[in-house]
Amino acid sequence: MITTPSTDPLLMASIRVLSAGQAATGAFIASPNFPQYGFAWLRDGAYCALAMDAVGETASSDAFHRWAADAVERQRDRILDVVNMLRAGQDPEPQLMLPTRYTLTGMPESDSAESWPNFQLDGYGTWLFALRAHLAGADAGPLRAAVELAAEYLAASWAMPCYDYWEEFGDRRHTSTLASIAAGLQAAAHMLDRPDLAATADAVLVFIRESCVSDGRFVKGPSDARLDASLISLATPFRLVDHDDPVMAATIEGIRTTLASPSGGIRRYLGDTYYGGNPWLLLTAWLGWHDRLAGNADGHAHAVGWVRGRQAADGGLAEQTLHEPQDASAVQPWIDRWGPVADPLLWSHAKYLLMQSDVEDAAWS
Ligand code: BGC
Repeated sequence: MITTPSTDPLLMASIRVLSAGQAATGAFIASPNFPQYGFAWLRDGAYCALAMDAVGETASSDAFHRWAADAVERQRDRILDVVNMLRAGQDPEPQLMLPTRYTLTGMPESDSAESWPNFQLDGYGTWLFALRAHLAGADAGPLRAAVELAAEYLAASWAMPCYDYWEEFGDRRHTSTLASIAAGLQAAAHMLDRPDLAATADAVLVFIRESCVSDGRFVKGPSDARLDASLISLATPFRLVDHDDPVMAATIEGIRTTLASPSGGIRRYLGDTYYGGNPWLLLTAWLGWHDRLAGNADGHAHAVGWVRGRQAADGGLAEQTLHEPQDASAVQPWIDRWGPVADPLLWSHAKYLLMQSDVEDAAWS
């Protein structure tokens, strides 16, 4: 729970942005002002729900989890087909796999003229993780069937290549995606009392340790030795690895040194060109959240100051700043294509709330 809301207007603004961005169905829209983000991503939404739990807005997180469970249940036949195919040693076509984002009413979006990578596994794992944190030991009750479906789906498909956190590189496997899957399977193992799911999570973790470490650091994936800021998730919040594990500590310091912009904001990865590949507010807050849990007060304070300094006049936190691009020539083409950068972005606010709440006491700690 937050201890000092009155001293930080951005905390209250962030709760307002998340509340305003939550549909009556329980879905969190990714961004209300950016047409391409007019959907509900499980990845973004799961972090919004964790944040709402962290600030005591449990009715909001409860509504999200019911919405997500309903969306998964509606895909029951598709999930069972895919699981059966994978168990029979067949490779399902990517378009058979579950979508990464849904409409606010919990339906897969219809095929649009501009197709956008939609097969991503991480959101289902992050959802299961956030649900377990939300339930804090209580029975999953009516959500149990959806938990079972999502867990069977992940247990069967975890080794498949898919698009990553950033909706790129769909022909590869990705460490952060695998981490989300392992965390989700661990959570499902607890919620369902299924040791077999915990054993699959262990196998995923063995794969990460054996195939996703290079030069003493976790890296973007088995075939990509770059760092990626989403690797923070291995420790925060998933606790798959201790923050003082030498490989984790080296990863964090690598992110801090190689992915920081001159002003100290954190980029996704080197070579990113989306809107120029600037620092992202949610990533800077994510590192601040990790620093807080790891006892790095200076790192946390830096992140808080940096994010606050980028709050828009109307109180919103955008996806990324546009002032420190890795590739200046890549900014305008994206503005021409999709318009100004997403602002507010709900999971930027979620990460700010998580960085600033007493997450040490949260159910997932
Ligand atoms: C990001 C995703 C995010 C989505 C919605 C995309 O540009 O790469 O990580 O889930 O936007 O916010």
